[in-house]
Amino acid sequence: MKLLILGTGGMAAAHARAFGAMPGVEVAAACDVDADRAAAFAKTHGIAKSFGSLDDALAAGGFDAVSNVTPDPIHHPTTLKCLGAGKHVLCEKPLAESCALAEEMTDAAQKAGLVNMVNLSYRNVPALQKARELIAGGAVGEVRHIEASYRQSWLVANNWGHWNTDPKWLWRLSSKHGSRGVLGDVGIHILDFATFATGLKPVSLQARLKTFDKAPEGKIGEYELDANDSAVMSLEFGNGALGVIHTSRFMTGYANTLKLHVFGTKGAVELDHNPGWTRLRLCGGEDVHNQAWTDVECPPVKTNFHKFAEAVASGKNGEPDFAHATELQRYLDACFEMETSKAARI
Ligand SMILES: NC(=O)c1ccc[n+]([C@@H]2O[C@H](COP(=O)([O-])OP(=O)(O)OC[C@H]3O[C@@H](n4cnc5c(N)ncnc54)[C@H](O)[C@@H]3O)[C@@H](O)[C@H]2O)c1
Repeated sequence: MKLLILGTGGMAAAHARAFGAMPGVEVAAACDVDADRAAAFAKTHGIAKSFGSLDDALAAGGFDAVSNVTPDPIHHPTTLKCLGAGKHVLCEKPLAESCALAEEMTDAAQKAGLVNMVNLSYRNVPALQKARELIAGGAVGEVRHIEASYRQSWLVANNWGHWNTDPKWLWRLSSKHGSRGVLGDVGIHILDFATFATGLKPVSLQARLKTFDKAPEGKIGEYELDANDSAVMSLEFGNGALGVIHTSRFMTGYANTLKLHVFGTKGAVELDHNPGWTRLRLCGGEDVHNQAWTDVECPPVKTNFHKFAEAVASGKNGEPDFAHATELQRYLDACFEMETSKAARI
C-alpha cells in the first residue's frame, strides 16, 4: 500500500508512526492546507513528498490509499474527493457531522468498491475485544443492564493545557468551528465501546445535553462556547436491555478514562481503560453469589491501522467501516433531535 496522509496536525503523527513501521506499507506523501506544516511533517517522518492541497496531491498521484486526519467537518468533502479518484480511505472519527453526510460517504465508497474504514481507536484495546468475546460466549448470560462512561476533565484540570486560551481546545467548544461537543468528540467512542462489547444495538434513546456558562456572554475571542460539555443518554437495546451512557469534560480526577459495566443473567464484566493501564474483570459462575471478581488476561490485538493495510492488500473491506460509523452517527443525531423535540426513535 502506498499511502497519503491528509491533514498533518496533532493526530497525524500516530498515523505516520503506525503506517511507517508496517512492512509492505509506504507512507508516500503528506498533505495539509498549511503547506509548511505538511513539509515539516514529511521531513520529521521521512516522507518523500508533501503537498499544500488535496487537488495537487491527487493530480500528482503515486498512492492508492488515504488516511484522512483532517478536522471533523473536512472529512466529508475530502473523503468524497479521494473516493472519486479511486483511493481507499481510512477516515478519522467522527465520520461526518451528521448521519446524512455519513450515508453519502458510505454510498460513494460502496459504489466504488473501495476499502472504507473509520479509526474508532478504542477497538485497538485488547480488553474491549476480550470483553466482546466473553459476552458473545455467554459468560454473563443474557445482557440486562449496561453502564458506560467516557471521562475527561480538561475543563477543570490543566495537565493538557489551558482550555480557555488554547485553540486546540477552544474549537472543540464551538459549533461554528465544527464541534458537536463532548458527545461528537468522545461520546461516539463510548457508544462504539458499549455496543461493540455487547454486540447490541440501541433501538430507542433519551438524551440530555448540557452547555455550561464558561465565559462572559459565552464567548472567548472568535469562539462561541455553545457546544455541549456533558451528555447523558438512557437507551433500550434490541434484546430489551437498558443502559446509561454518559460523558463529560468535567469529570475531575480522570484525564481520559473509559468505563464499561455489563450485567447479565449469569454474570458481569467490568472494563476500566485509562492512560497507562487497563483492567478487565469478570464476576461469573459461583462468584456471582459472593460478588467476587477475577482479572481476565487479554492477548494483543491488531490495530485499525493494521486492519486497513490488510484490507487494502486483500481488496476486502475491514471493520470498523463507514456503514458502522454511519450507524453511530444516527445515534448522535437522535440525541440532538431529542434535545429539540424531546422525543426520538432510532
Ligand atoms: N481516533 C482518535 O482517537 C482521535 C484522537 C484525536 C483526534 N482524532 C480526530 O482526528 C482528526 C484530526 O484531529 P487533530 O487533533 O489532528 O486536529 P488538528 O487541528 O491538530 O489537525 C488537523 C490538520 O488538518 C489540516 N487541514 C484542514 N483542512 C484541510 C484540508 N482541506 N486538506 C488538508 N488538510 C487540512 C489542518 O491544517 C491541520 O493541520 C479529527 O477528526 C479528530 O476528531 C481522533
